[in-house]
Amino acid sequence: MTVAYKVLDQKDLGTSLETKEVFALDVLHGLSQTPKTISSKYFYDDKGSKYFQRITELEEYYLTRCEYEILNTYKNVISDYMNTCEFNLIELGAGDGKKTNILIEHFLQNNLRFNYVPIDISEAAMSWLTNSLKQKFPKLSMYGLVSEYFNAIKWLGKSSNKRNLVLFLGSNIGNFSKGNSKVFLRSLWNSLNDGDYVLIGFDLKKDINLLLNAYNDSEGITKEFNINLLKRINQELKGNFDISKFQFFANYNVSSGAIESYLLSTEKQQVLIEHIGQVFSFKAWEPIHTEYSYKYLQLDIESLANETGFLIENQFYDSKKYFTDSIWKVCKHA
Ligand code: AVJ
Repeated sequence: MTVAYKVLDQKDLGTSLETKEVFALDVLHGLSQTPKTISSKYFYDDKGSKYFQRITELEEYYLTRCEYEILNTYKNVISDYMNTCEFNLIELGAGDGKKTNILIEHFLQNNLRFNYVPIDISEAAMSWLTNSLKQKFPKLSMYGLVSEYFNAIKWLGKSSNKRNLVLFLGSNIGNFSKGNSKVFLRSLWNSLNDGDYVLIGFDLKKDINLLLNAYNDSEGITKEFNINLLKRINQELKGNFDISKFQFFANYNVSSGAIESYLLSTEKQQVLIEHIGQVFSFKAWEPIHTEYSYKYLQLDIESLANETGFLIENQFYDSKKYFTDSIWKVCKHA
């Protein structure tokens, strides 16, 4: 019998859309919404990744320091989960890898057999990370992927049948809305095997002033980090944003439990983005939403694990209880 239809797949479509085209379409979509929005994943071009690294060194940005303390204190416990067989140590959003250094060093000292797979959207960050790790740990087996999370996860599912430990540190999960974090974790679950582990970092709900200060730093680096989005559109998509007419604003939304970041147009203005072929109008004080940074309660973490097919194996806190790293086990036969 002749088949009268064809299922189109990636191969038929050739390589998927150019990165730049995807960026342009995302910006078109985001700036056509009310309120206007640009996804925080576009923060991380080469310059943006550097700004973020500077944020992690700020006095006010407690998150990185807290997680550093947690990993240092509990690296023994974490390595005990992994000392039975060879595994992949996969890191989503590896960035500069400073925190992961602690685990890698400890795992190597304890003769664990593993392959490190850092995944990051910034090629500059990846090149810096893999070079510095090669120097520091010449014996480390490592293979990095420059990719965004979703594609990386799909690739993961097909690539290896070894045990996996997936690191999703730094409260990177906080950028997802509550709904999207479920979708994301469930797709991760789909790509993993029964018995695999994930280690996820969550920033906990706490005194609002501490939260506000972490995103309104006195040196203005977080502001530059946000403004860089507009500079990026200007450069890559031939936009004509006048960055002096945008103001950074980050606030904590007590109902949603997230720090919400915005760039506000300080006056009525038009912005042309040539590569999109469109002019975007801004009212005076109109916001562009740039980022959610969700904060969690222990309760939220437990329901998230339950709803997505994971079992919480263990959980670690820093001494101030500002931040937590939670070890989840993939459970496929419950
Ligand atoms: C890397 C997503 C965890 O939301 O705290 C830092 C990014 N934004 N300052 C966060 C960020 C503003 C950061 N994450």
